[in-house]
This record gives sequence, structure tokens and C-alpha cells, in this order.
Amino acid sequence: MDITELAINGGTPYRVRPFPTYANASGRSLGDEEKQLLAEVIDSGALNRNDGSKAVALERAWAEMLGVPYAHAVTSGTAALHTAVAALNLEPGDEIITSPITDMGTVIAVLACNLVPTFADVDPRTGNITATTIARQISSKTRAIIVVHLFGQPADMDPILALARQHDLRVIEDCAQAHLAAYQGRFVGTMGDLGCFSFQQSKQMTTGDGGLVVGRDEALAIRARLFSDKGWPRGIPGLRGHLFLGMNYRMTELQGAVGLAQARKLAGMVARRRRTAGSLRERVAATPGLIPPHILHP
Ligand SMILES: Cc1ncc(COP(=O)(O)O)c(C=O)c1O
Repeated sequence: MDITELAINGGTPYRVRPFPTYANASGRSLGDEEKQLLAEVIDSGALNRNDGSKAVALERAWAEMLGVPYAHAVTSGTAALHTAVAALNLEPGDEIITSPITDMGTVIAVLACNLVPTFADVDPRTGNITATTIARQISSKTRAIIVVHLFGQPADMDPILALARQHDLRVIEDCAQAHLAAYQGRFVGTMGDLGCFSFQQSKQMTTGDGGLVVGRDEALAIRARLFSDKGWPRGIPGLRGHLFLGMNYRMTELQGAVGLAQARKLAGMVARRRRTAGSLRERVAATPGLIPPHILHP
């Protein structure tokens, strides 16, 4: 098409159909698989995770995808972060270093545990915090770092993990925007003590709202599960105590059903996004005056 006048100036529009959007079916991969699993939940009559199997199957699917022993589904990414921070069992007033460029959910998780967020600056090329900027914020009260992998790009984790080891700090990875992103051959969420994901509508896979905490440490995993279920140690006959203050962040079976179907398609959905991003990137790079996003480890 020969464009002589831009559409904004009255020329003929090149594209007349709207672009796909995350906010409706045009930009999502929701279909028969989700409907089938949802119908199974409805037919079973068990909409609560403790009486069903779908949320648990979603957890297993993610644990297998990432190669970690523990995955625990909750109601949002914010809930996942709150659960992860609570699992660390820190003292009121302790500090957690995180990114100033993130969703409020990252910071809410810290504040809700009576902890103090402090902010490391970001690398202007990637928008992610780095070992150098984190080091400047470490104080005698610092106990943990929440690393945000912004816009799907992993933060430079090896120096951050080394710094954390040196100062005995816990590391939580906020992978809300980075499903299946990998850093030097390791999936994000599997490098720190705990990894947190969001399944909110705009994320790579969605359950409308939803979230997941993953990890390798059994004690942290148990505490995370208890925290998200009102501190209730289920499965011990006769015991209905509440071991410590927790929330009800239990994912429902309805979310679990959609999430399980979405998890089975996730690798394909991410691969398609990468192809689209790659071709946009090439075109942006070839356009004078535009600089594509910087990729740290291509
Ligand atoms: C980086 C980041 N952290 C945390 C969250 C919070 O997730 P949710 O909206 O599912 O509570 C989001 C999602 O918006 C996010 O992008």
C-alpha cells in the first residue's frame, strides 16, 4: 500500500481492524480446553481447592515446568508476594530492598508484614535493579531482596545472588511479568528462595486473577501454604488450630481449572509472544530514531 498521507492527517487507514488486546478474547488463548475443565469442576460440585483436584494439578504442572519441588496456587500475584514475604517470618521493622519500578503489589506485600521497603535504583537500560544498586541500600536491618523481572526480562541474577549470600539475605523473585523467562539456563522464580507469579488478566497466562509461589525449601513451602490458608494445618486429624496469623488466599477450583488449561498451553503462548516481539524488535531497530529495548543476555 502506498501511503501518501498519514491516517491521522486524513489519509486512508492502513489497518482498519483493531489490534488484538489482552482484555478480551481477541488477544487471549482461551477456548475449549478451559471450558472442558471448568465444566468438570461445575459437574463435580466442588468449587473449593480443598475438595477438588484442579488447583493442585495446576501447581503440579507449574512445578514440573520449572523443575522445582513446591508450587502453591493463590488468589493473585499480590497474594503470592504477601505469602512469600510472610513465609520468611521476619521481625517488624526489618527492611526489604526492592525495585521502584514495579506493581504496587510488590510493595504491599512488604508493608502488610510490618516491614519497611527500601528501593534500589534500576539499570536505565533494562528497568531492573542490579547488585550494584542493591548494595548501596543494604543496612543493618536489611533481611531480604525482592527482585522484579520487569517486562519479561530477567534481572542479572548471578551477582545479586552472590551479594545476597555475602550479606545473608533472602531473595524473592517477582516473576509476575516473566512467565517462563530464563536467565543463563535457569527459569526465573527458581534461583532465589521463593518465586512469585501473577495470573492476572494481562499476564502471559491468566485465570482472571490468580497467583503462584514456587520454591525448593520445604520449610518455606510449608509456611507459605499455611499462611495462605489462615495458618490451618489441614490433614492432621482432630487438629483445627490456627498456628499463626494468616490470610485466606486459597485459589478456587474455577481459577484452577482455567489455570491448568492455560498452563498446558503456556510454552506455545510464550513462544508466539517471543516471535512477535522479535519481529517488532527488528523493525524498531531498523527505524531511524528508535531504539529497541536493551536485552541483557540475548
Ligand atoms: C511486577 C508485578 N508484581 C506484582 C504484581 C501483582 O500481581 P496481581 O495484580 O496479580 O496482584 C504485578 C501485576 O500486575 C506485577 O506486574
